[in-house]
Amino acid sequence: MKGEKRNLVLIGFMGSGKTTVGRKLSYRLRMPMEDTDRLIEQREKKSIRQMFDEEGERFFRACETKLLRELTQRAAGPRIYSVGGGTPAEPANRPLLKELGTVIWLRVRPDTVYRRLRGDTVRPLLQCPDPLERIRSLMEERGQAYRACADVTVDADDMSAAQITEQILRILDAKNKEAPFGGGEAPF
Ligand code: S3P
Repeated sequence: MKGEKRNLVLIGFMGSGKTTVGRKLSYRLRMPMEDTDRLIEQREKKSIRQMFDEEGERFFRACETKLLRELTQRAAGPRIYSVGGGTPAEPANRPLLKELGTVIWLRVRPDTVYRRLRGDTVRPLLQCPDPLERIRSLMEERGQAYRACADVTVDADDMSAAQITEQILRILDAKNKEAPFGGGEAPF
């Protein structure tokens, strides 16, 4: 990877803005974007909610790991990847995420997620009597996993997607200056 442009990998809880920010980064950096949830849905020809209902969460988690393995092996030009909120929670996925590219964590508070996703019907883990409590406990469980994967962390509660995108671009730019092209570390 030395001297080549690396992939960017957006991680973060449901509702942290990975897809929206990923699209904006894709536009600004002229790098195609792919969303692993959508790739899995296309492959399995069903929605994630249906997958959870019919095959169970374990099946979906196995699809995530299999896909990540494939993405790390494929020789495609640099991409921006947005991955599901639970992907870093699976220990096997952490080295794969790091291998895939520069990992950017969009960190959010539980109340932000609750506000953004109130009434959501597509995320199976939030179809429960007390979604705020579920968000809190999952976030607590996953905090360490997100931290362990992240190369870059951005607090994404009180900024628009456009502001978050600009902040990420500034951080990446500064990182590239620290380790200039050909200077050892790959850009991004
Ligand atoms: C999940 C997050 C979802 C999706 C699935 C499980 C999770 O992705 O992968 O519903 O475990 O947090 P988003 O983070 O894109 O909503």
